Amino acid sequence: MNAQTALITGASSGIGFELARCFARDDYRVVLVARHLAELKEAARLLHQEFEEVEIVLLPFDLSHPETPAQLYAETTARGLQIDALVNDAGFGETGYFTDTDLATELAIIQVNAAALVQLTKLYLRDMVARNDGRILQVGSLASFTPSPCQAVYAATKAFVLSFTEAVQHELKQQKSAVTMTVLCPPPTDTNFFQVAHAENTRAANHTVSARTVAEEGYDALMEGDARSLPTMSAKVNFFTSLVLPDSMLATIMNSQLHAADK
Ligand SMILES: NC(=O)c1ccc[n+]([C@@H]2O[C@H](COP(=O)([O-])OP(=O)(O)OC[C@H]3O[C@@H](n4cnc5c(N)ncnc54)[C@H](OP(=O)(O)O)[C@@H]3O)[C@@H](O)[C@H]2O)c1
Repeated sequence: MNAQTALITGASSGIGFELARCFARDDYRVVLVARHLAELKEAARLLHQEFEEVEIVLLPFDLSHPETPAQLYAETTARGLQIDALVNDAGFGETGYFTDTDLATELAIIQVNAAALVQLTKLYLRDMVARNDGRILQVGSLASFTPSPCQAVYAATKAFVLSFTEAVQHELKQQKSAVTMTVLCPPPTDTNFFQVAHAENTRAANHTVSARTVAEEGYDALMEGDARSLPTMSAKVNFFTSLVLPDSMLATIMNSQLHAADK
């Protein structure tokens, strides 16, 4: 009954869950990836509650291990799943001076946010290009456009996502491929992100938009084949500001967003 299949990493909560909801609403079979099976099951229960007919596949995988993307690809291949839409949403951050933060955590951030995204894109994009059909959504951030003191490694991974996506978008056009790639750059969004990143008391965490708003705008952009999605007017204003201000000034602004809300 489900004609098309979407694989969404980071689908157990936040923006990824809301993106999975958009695909489920549009009759996609959804393959949900995250580390914790209990959370994936709860996400599946919520989706079934709203969309009775949706077919859901749960794949608990930890993308902080370099071998995971190949294992995930092997698993979907073994199950005979053709991935028509790939969403690289899984990601997390850490907050603090780079001299104080834990290197192992930051290497895991680089692996999940950047390396796994590249690995999964390489594996599934080749199949899509061979079929001349498919779409990929890469989740960047407003931080893709600005250096972010106190989230230096996180923001650098998001700058990587933007640069990588824009380069491959260009290649796909040169190759005259019908496959599209879209980068979603959310503003601060009301999810578990700030808690995981130890940033729950910052100004940014106190000025968020809903994950559903972000996901629905990103999903529409993906379906339109747009190059970029900047959900909400304030994100668009932030983006245009980043085009005109020098990086040193942007860094100062970002730094103030990652200070305690009451400072
Ligand atoms: N919230 C914001 O303000 C904001 C703004 C801009 C961009 N973003 C980006 O949006 C994306 C989604 O984040 P969110 O805000 O929705 O936060 P979230 O609610 O914490 O969701 C993160 C998702 O990623 C999964 N995940 C984390 N580590 C993983 C790993 N090692 N392997 C596999 N899955 C993993 C989590 O599930 P498990 O913990 O079970 O693995 C969860 O499903 C991230 O890329 C984030 O950088 C967020």
